[in-house]
Amino acid sequence: MAQEKFYITTPIYYPSDKLHIGHSYCTVATDTMARYKRLRGYDVMFLTGTDEHGQKIERIATSQGMTPKEYTDKIVLGIKELWKTLHISYDRFIRTTDDYHVKGVQKIFKMLYDKGDIYKSSYEGWYCTPCESFFTEHQLVDGKCPDCGRDVELLKEESYFFRLSKYGDRIIKYMEENPEFLQPNTRQNEMISNFLKPGLEDLAVSRTSFKWGIPVEFDPGHIVYVWIDALSNYITAMGWGSDDDSLYQKYWPADVHVVGKEIVRFHSIIWPAMLMALDMPLPKQVFGHGWLIINGGKMSKSVGNVIDPNTLVERYGVDAMRYFLLREVAFGQDGNFNNEALIQRINADLANDLGNLVSRTAGMIEKYFGGTLPAERAASPFDEDLKATAAAVIPNVEREMDHMFFSDALVEIWNLIRRTNKYIDETQPWILCKDPEKKAELANALYHVAESIRIVSILIQPFMPLTPAKIWAQMGIPEGELTAWESTKTWGLMPATFSVQKGETLFPRIDMKKELVELEAAIKASQATSVANQQKAAEKEEESKYPAEITIDDFAKVQLKVGEVLESKEVEGSRKLLRNIVKIGDEERVIFSGIKDSYAPGALVGKRVVVAYNLKPRKMMGEISNGMILCAEDADGKLCVLTTDDKDFASGSEIS
Ligand code: MSP
Repeated sequence: MAQEKFYITTPIYYPSDKLHIGHSYCTVATDTMARYKRLRGYDVMFLTGTDEHGQKIERIATSQGMTPKEYTDKIVLGIKELWKTLHISYDRFIRTTDDYHVKGVQKIFKMLYDKGDIYKSSYEGWYCTPCESFFTEHQLVDGKCPDCGRDVELLKEESYFFRLSKYGDRIIKYMEENPEFLQPNTRQNEMISNFLKPGLEDLAVSRTSFKWGIPVEFDPGHIVYVWIDALSNYITAMGWGSDDDSLYQKYWPADVHVVGKEIVRFHSIIWPAMLMALDMPLPKQVFGHGWLIINGGKMSKSVGNVIDPNTLVERYGVDAMRYFLLREVAFGQDGNFNNEALIQRINADLANDLGNLVSRTAGMIEKYFGGTLPAERAASPFDEDLKATAAAVIPNVEREMDHMFFSDALVEIWNLIRRTNKYIDETQPWILCKDPEKKAELANALYHVAESIRIVSILIQPFMPLTPAKIWAQMGIPEGELTAWESTKTWGLMPATFSVQKGETLFPRIDMKKELVELEAAIKASQATSVANQQKAAEKEEESKYPAEITIDDFAKVQLKVGEVLESKEVEGSRKLLRNIVKIGDEERVIFSGIKDSYAPGALVGKRVVVAYNLKPRKMMGEISNGMILCAEDADGKLCVLTTDDKDFASGSEIS
């Protein structure tokens, strides 16, 4: 039988230098599902990536003196590093700046335009010039820009529109006929009553006021709206629209898009409408998970309450962190992140229940049998219940995992772990060991425990990338058939005799009181750096939005004068500079200018130029340059000196 495919995606992340555990939560959950499906024998395609276009990125990059691509290149490296730390097993990583994606989006836009589902019109709204943003009347705050508080003006911008309004009824019908499409169910009611039933408006899908994005191929002054660009990644990443679309043919439609609740609307309304317009199948499911909350509010960089996943991984290891995220919060609902709960879970569930089970079992086999379990057996009255628990837990885990109810799946696995610990208490190996007659009973008890540990080690694999192999090494379980998912369904696959090797403690117990203080301090320190960096970045971004203002008194300090260029020569050893002699009134000054790309030596001679007269002289090429000739960039990016040649101003005239 052909292997069944499973295509799962995370949202593509905005490039941010500090992805927090809220972001990690979404990716860890998706990774857990991808790992689970691989273990179940599916041919999995797990896609993640970065959403790199838009005005905001353009501004941040400019404020850091970089091109947007240079900026995102740097950030993407950091994001990939974090995914490596968290053992995220993605199969493909798409960047919306990738060439094939850009071409794919242009093709989608053109197809929708040719079909008449995209049309050109104009967008009218209140425009804030410094923010380069349109707002509706309703969004204004006291008639001013909601972002910066400045005056706004009523403007029209030419824009392409997508006929979203045409698809509302079809989407409602689709949701009603496919109740599995949007999960959890409550999200579907929310979408229908808040957005679809009131009626959808056509969507402005191009902008002309900034450049960092994908140009509409047949009208390059227009940049494709970032959400049209971003959502398309799910098919362009599979090669849709390229010469080789075999991955698209194999994997589309996606089996599930995992997304946070605030972006469910884009995935369950705009994306399906785009696909309907393109006559393409819809994804089978959109799963909208909840938020990780800190003290009642969403974790967010701007609030400064973010927790760096690296802080947690460094202190407790990746498996403990992943376990906590998926155990503590029911997937689909919001959940509070709490330091005490984290330590509590590590101590109770991981150190006590799981870690202790493995170490005491390996320890007992070492102590009672010198490390190798003998083959003799004598059944105990407790065996059947342990076996029955395992047999019941496995299908329950599968059922919960198939619905992405990770927390419930973990509860099931821990039922088996706790039952196994109880079995040890019931069989009392420390008493059996005292009586040589009971050797077969003792070996039987430890065999049952080992078999249960084998099953547990397989079931935890989707959640914990590192612990299972450590358990196999300690318990002498060879990786392969005995660690395959299906093998959990047959009790008694551990070899009749096997050797253990006690290793490192899987999850060391933590001193709660001491650790709470230290963890808090570590989180605070990382938040303080993050807030400081954030403030610095915001200030820089703000500066790049509004050039610093100066008062009229500041301006009055600047002396500008008309000067006549007497000489303009090359400078030995410099690619850019010209050495000019400029006559300003009775005075002659040497002024260096970086304009050799635009002016041949001598070309400026005789021209009257504007000179910044009272600029502090500075040494250039071993000589003092006294003042500056003012220039502006022309449309081709070439520097042009500002001349006053159309008026016959005398050299030395003051400009004010
Ligand atoms: N770029 C868009 C997605 C485009 S998909 C075609 C975006 N990016 S994001 O970086 O802001 O968010 C990525 C994911 O992280 C989203 O699913 C978002 O919900 C999730 N989270 C960000 N903060 C979160 C929490 N505090 N808690 C849980 N998930 C949250 O949106």
